[in-house]
Amino acid sequence: MPRPFRHPAPLELGGAELRDLVSACMDRLAPFLDGLNEQPTHSLDGSHKVARAFDEPMPERGVPFRRVLARLFDRAIPVSLNPASPGYLGYIPGGGLPSTALADLIADVTNRYTGLWMPAPGLVQLEISVIRWFCSLAGYGPSAGGWICSGGSMANLAAVVAAREAKLGEDIAGGVLYTSEGAHHSVAKAARVAGLPRRATRVVPVDASFRLQRDALAKAIAEDRTAGRRPFLVVAQAGSTPVGAVDDLAALADLCAAEGLWLHVDAAYGGFFLLTERGRSSLAGIERADSIALDPHKGLFLPYGTGCLLVKERATLRAAFSETAAYLPPSQEDADHWDFADLSPELSRPARGLRIWLPLWLHGASAFRAALDEKLDLARDAAARVRALPGVRIVAEPELSLFAFRVEPPGMNTAELDAFNRRVLARVNQRKRLLLTGTTLRDPALGEDVFVLRVCVLCFRTHADRIDMLLEDLAEAIADPRG
Ligand SMILES: Cc1ncc(COP(=O)(O)O)c(C=O)c1O
Repeated sequence: MPRPFRHPAPLELGGAELRDLVSACMDRLAPFLDGLNEQPTHSLDGSHKVARAFDEPMPERGVPFRRVLARLFDRAIPVSLNPASPGYLGYIPGGGLPSTALADLIADVTNRYTGLWMPAPGLVQLEISVIRWFCSLAGYGPSAGGWICSGGSMANLAAVVAAREAKLGEDIAGGVLYTSEGAHHSVAKAARVAGLPRRATRVVPVDASFRLQRDALAKAIAEDRTAGRRPFLVVAQAGSTPVGAVDDLAALADLCAAEGLWLHVDAAYGGFFLLTERGRSSLAGIERADSIALDPHKGLFLPYGTGCLLVKERATLRAAFSETAAYLPPSQEDADHWDFADLSPELSRPARGLRIWLPLWLHGASAFRAALDEKLDLARDAAARVRALPGVRIVAEPELSLFAFRVEPPGMNTAELDAFNRRVLARVNQRKRLLLTGTTLRDPALGEDVFVLRVCVLCFRTHADRIDMLLEDLAEAIADPRG
């Protein structure tokens, strides 16, 4: 018999009460977790009704906890896309390691302050060691540094600000940055938030493998210089969102070095493949970048809410973000003791590094490496088998664990093929054991914009059985082109 909860729950919960509440949560979470394999990959039926049910006034008096849980688990949570599902192959998945929730529970209940080193030296230092693990993965040396933030968009934003500060200083007029057609929209957004006008972001075309064209970039830089503008930054892709393309990082590093530009690599999707041998080979040259965005809530499978910016020289973050205030303790003098407030836009922050540190200590890096290697294998296997289906053309090969394809039965024009591919997508998704997404991109083979389907294998729960389902569902979906 569960113990009855005090109701309304007091703000000052005691240990036994918290344990009971956590245990009541577990009564809901355990079946959720154990049933993930059978759960639909998405279910948005009744979404407006559910949304309306939560558009409500603030409760004046607390309600019994099991009723609160019921509203979440019976109403809000089921009506969603399900990125925790092994069948979720859309967008960029991650899965959401449940062990991170333990770290969050500890961080939230103990409520330590990690904006500065002094208030929680042990917790800050463990976060510094997480950043150093990542720096060494990227091939950075001892003067590197970083910031664990909420996601890849924030990491890209901080990188653009650091690059702007380092290369343009206070006067940002005429500053220009370059990125490719495959760049995530957070890059252009970052430039705007960093105070640059929209025209400051130049989009450079890609080659047949969706990699930024180095020569076109060199030409654009030269033209901008001639016109009196001030090129300062190149944002390269290490796993582009639409097709998973990895730019030629070494060639871009050479160009940036010759031109005196900051090189930022957006490795939000691809970065943690550095744990694998194949990933290291694909991302060769990344160690020469001035900064790198990583997203542990993608390639380290964490639940949403964790990104990371690495910089080759920690001093560049300090130059961009440090401020002093009489009401705060002085910054640390010891180079090994970092104040995150000096390295980022944040002051108050949770012990965010614990979300990464705890799962790595609990499972070990080898578990992540093996899972990432498995995803590389699954994506290659899936691409080979999808290619063999009638009418399928692989538009972007799986450099990492993402590929894009299009089904092209004979006798259809581009618009008809786009419509057919959208129908294929809808048919696959309607079985709800997989979730795929598509995108429109400039097809290098055709030189025109086309709609393609994407498969991104990155959830740690995705195994070979889902790839078998993918093949079954796709074969069925493409069987009747006119239907
Ligand atoms: C390559 C890339 N960069 C940046 C982002 C933005 O990351 P976040 O959604 O964590 O802000 C994404 C998200 O999918 C991405 O794929």
